[in-house]
Amino acid sequence: MLQMEGMCLYFLVVILVMVLSVQSQGGLRPGFYSSSCPKAEVVVRSTVTSHFNKDPTVAPGLLRLHFHDCFVQGCDGSVLIAGSSAERNALPNLGLRGFEVIDDAKTQLEALCPGVVSCADILALAARDAVDLSDGPSWKVPTGRRDGRVSSSSQASNLPSPLDSVAVQRQKFAAKGLDDHDLVTLVGAHTIGQTDCLFFRYRLYNFTKTGSADPTINQSFLAQLQTLCPNGGDGSKRVALDIDSQTDFDVSFFKNVRDGKGVLESDQRLWGDSATRSVVENYAGTIRGLLGLRFDHEFPKAMIKMSSIEVKTGRDGEIRKICSKFN
Ligand code: HEM
Ligand SMILES: *[C@@H]1O[C@H](CO)[C@@H](O)[C@H](O)[C@H]1NC(C)=O
Ligand SMILES: *[C@@H]1O[C@H](CO)[C@@H](O)[C@H](O)[C@H]1NC(C)=O
Repeated sequence: MLQMEGMCLYFLVVILVMVLSVQSQGGLRPGFYSSSCPKAEVVVRSTVTSHFNKDPTVAPGLLRLHFHDCFVQGCDGSVLIAGSSAERNALPNLGLRGFEVIDDAKTQLEALCPGVVSCADILALAARDAVDLSDGPSWKVPTGRRDGRVSSSSQASNLPSPLDSVAVQRQKFAAKGLDDHDLVTLVGAHTIGQTDCLFFRYRLYNFTKTGSADPTINQSFLAQLQTLCPNGGDGSKRVALDIDSQTDFDVSFFKNVRDGKGVLESDQRLWGDSATRSVVENYAGTIRGLLGLRFDHEFPKAMIKMSSIEVKTGRDGEIRKICSKFN
């Protein structure tokens, strides 16, 4: 009898923990479409794969698109809306790519299960698939997001900037419920993809008007970057954020930051602050995860947190028919 009561209590606790963990993801759950649109995840996956096979740079594009969606009024597809005053046309969003992948998946899903799968969820799933296709980790994406009805370029001004100090990066992430560990882990997304010279060239020449370069740049790397981005060039040339392996989702980005080879100023600053530095150090020292916390374990956890920022669920928002337009 006592044992029975113990068992009941045990199950009660298990159920409570499950309920609480679902709530902490804002009401999302993996497999939200398993009965309403069982092929949803397969269709997103095959769409991302076919675009990726034609142009592998869509992978970093989709990952960054999801980040920018989540940081402006939550992961609600607001970044996907077209229009001159929409979020997508704000200055920090000008280089965003991968919209056509989301539109393609949406067209197929509307034919299969009209009005069911949100654009915000398609984007969250596509970001996961993009990392997986880049030989990074994979994870179950909690789904059930609804699409927002507002998209305004003025709201995008608070996105993190490559000129931000660690203090400012920390404050912007904390405002979204993300701590130092999440910050460094998520910025590890810069292990894939590229940046315009425009975003970091000021570090290479006459940095802070002293006539010389940013002293935190490794000397051998400085020459390399100056060749890639000549002073007075057009600034639109693309440079890998992780100079060693820009298509592999690995830990070399962190090793580069450790060695003074971070390309963006915001990335390199993570080495200058003791709290963020210890996280960089941990990942940089991880030899396929034998020591410390593994990047390929921590990244999915941090992504699930980021993907849950201020999500709309239940009866909030809408399920768009076309991802670039409100219904
Ligand atoms: C302090 C935070 C961050 C800053 C200041 C920042 C800034 C930037 C900048 C300036 C670029 C270059 C854009 C371009 O020239 O096209 C970039 C690219 C990128 N960012 Fe971030 N980022 C941050 C955090 C993140 C996070 C959290 C993620 C995803 C989880 C992310 C994913 C990416 C990816 C994948 C690219 C490459 C895009 C491409 O190749 O098209 N970033 N980021
Ligand atoms: C650096 O910038 C300052 C201020 O604009 C200027 O006075 C100085 O001549 C520049 N130095 C070099 C080496 O270009
Ligand atoms: C500069 O880069 C070299 C070669 O990658 C590395 O061995 C060295 O430790 C780096 N220097 C600093 C100060 O990080």
